[in-house]
Amino acid sequence: MTTKKKPKVYLTRKLPDAVETRMRELFEAELNIDDVPRTADELAAAMQSAEVLVPTVTDRIDAALIERAGPQLKLIAGFSNGTDHIDVDAAARKGITVTNTPGVLTEDTADMTMALILAVPRRLAEGARVLTDRPGEWAGWSPTWMLGRRLSGKRIGIVGMGRIGTAVARRAKAFGLSIHYHNRKRVSPETEDALEATYWDSLDQMLARVDIISINCPSTPGTYHLISARRLALLQPSAFIVNTARGDIIDEPALINILRAGKIAGAGLDVFSNEPAVNPKLIKLANEGKVVLLPHMSSATIEGRIEMGDKVIINIRAFIDGHRPPNRVLPGR
Ligand code: DGY
Repeated sequence: MTTKKKPKVYLTRKLPDAVETRMRELFEAELNIDDVPRTADELAAAMQSAEVLVPTVTDRIDAALIERAGPQLKLIAGFSNGTDHIDVDAAARKGITVTNTPGVLTEDTADMTMALILAVPRRLAEGARVLTDRPGEWAGWSPTWMLGRRLSGKRIGIVGMGRIGTAVARRAKAFGLSIHYHNRKRVSPETEDALEATYWDSLDQMLARVDIISINCPSTPGTYHLISARRLALLQPSAFIVNTARGDIIDEPALINILRAGKIAGAGLDVFSNEPAVNPKLIKLANEGKVVLLPHMSSATIEGRIEMGDKVIINIRAFIDGHRPPNRVLPGR
């Protein structure tokens, strides 16, 4: 009896134990137990011998790196929903298939988006800090202290009405917000009806008319600085902006400038232009209570990470068995 050789699979980061255990059963898996992010040279070396690379959003798999891959590397099975960190076109040119893990992060990301939508106008982080950072300062309830802004009755403008945007809209509707959205394509009439959503063909016009903006589109060359200085200037002074998608969709220095100038009311950010570095001016704004910052943790639930791992395994299995992996990312998108 001959046993089929297990494919060599290289994991760039530590994954949940259950995922790693399954990977080791099925594949010749090289793990990253210490979870130290790999350098470009370490990734290039791995891509010289592995048949499958499993990168995460912290690995930049660009054209130069893909060019250095050995001929045995046939699959990049991303442990992520977003694929902005992988040059999918360069991979296709080299005959490498790319997959991702869509769907399983939707509800978790939408929950955290909603948490930021609540946290910023209702001054959640600021209030919590009064008790933990300045104990003794709280003099008790006061009719005029720590007043935020009501959510119910306001308008949310969702930029990107895909899976996550729609899940945010469902939650926002339950909180009494009216739903407005801008998307490349209008969603189905059934979805629009269920959400009582208003479609805005013009992003500019929507931005000027809503109270809360939620960024939920993917990062692509077309959405780079989509929320530019010019567009930020369209927002109402009472507007809040929340971003749980990718930092580069907003012109971050321009956002900092209008926040510092008091030209919008606040921001909730889970993602940044230059992660893991966070602009010190944003941290100062957070200390002043004008923004709430989270360290890219919108999708961070153990259930979500295990489901991401399951998807990666299914994609690898399908591919090595000669089938089309279910979550193939097509080039040229
Ligand atoms: C993804 O997978 O794209 C998420 O941003 C990770 O949290």
